[in-house]
Amino acid sequence: MTARKIIIDTDPGQDDAVAILLALASPEDVEVLGITAVAGNVPLDLTAKNARIVCELAGKVDVPVFAGCDRPLGRDLVTAEHVHGKTGLDGPDLPDPTMPLQDQNGVDFIIDTLRDNDPGTVTLCPLGPLTNIATAFQKAPDIVERVQEIVLMGGAYFEVGNITPAAEFNIYVDPQAADIVFKSGAPIVVMPLDVTHKALVTKPRNDAFRALGTAAGVAVAQMTDFFERFDKEKYGSAGAPLHDPCVTAYLIRPDLFSGRHINVEIETTSELTMGMTVADWWGVTDRPANALFIGNLDADGFFDLLTERLARL
Ligand code: BDR
Ligand code: CA
Repeated sequence: MTARKIIIDTDPGQDDAVAILLALASPEDVEVLGITAVAGNVPLDLTAKNARIVCELAGKVDVPVFAGCDRPLGRDLVTAEHVHGKTGLDGPDLPDPTMPLQDQNGVDFIIDTLRDNDPGTVTLCPLGPLTNIATAFQKAPDIVERVQEIVLMGGAYFEVGNITPAAEFNIYVDPQAADIVFKSGAPIVVMPLDVTHKALVTKPRNDAFRALGTAAGVAVAQMTDFFERFDKEKYGSAGAPLHDPCVTAYLIRPDLFSGRHINVEIETTSELTMGMTVADWWGVTDRPANALFIGNLDADGFFDLLTERLARL
């Protein structure tokens, strides 16, 4: 089987970093055509820098990294330093990147890449707010039908919200963008909090990363050490949820995940529930399915995969 071509659209973020490392460690499964940074967990200058720090940590300095949108389509940027720290990648002490940021804007890279490759051969992997993807779809509507699949982290149904009582962070930051993407007609796979809250880095799992003894293994363990304090305090959970790596793990081992093809709509008007993913999990409407909404994963299989692949870096 040939490797699946992907663009990772991201706002690193410790869990974004792990998702990127997993993809870069798996060239037989995924070919990372480029990484586009978006404003989210921290402002764009930091996410564009962090994406390059992660590529260098993986020893993959040839992966082109682009900066995309610096703010949501119609709202002020909301960031999450309270979770990820001031840099977005707090935890390990990693050097500033020396690899360059590409001159081209990330949105134009997404458009050109979809136009230059055969239809149905490029998958988009958004790990942050959907601003870059929606902007590309608005600017070049012809690319929508060329997308193979969008596999994204965002939203929630049973777990409801993490940034507000009703909304998950990535969707809340840019609900207008999410609405455009979910209405686009492109095939979508969603990794909501319902599944990512089951991908918990328990102590033995983090010890396994650290025991790799490599720069990447130790850095991931240190990122998790930092990142987990927030969720442990908030949810009383056993460790940090690795939200974004669910996306890249799905590309490699879809058999680890299960979900339902359902209709998902985005709340864009009510301030109270802004950014809520209204997911028809129980099929109580006749609205057509527009997404595979994942609800469960084999967590041990997921962490075995992650540890085995990180060991390669
Ligand atoms: C999502 O928000 C960010 O803080 C994480 O990187 C993840 O993409 C989880 O709600
Ligand atoms: Ca993210």
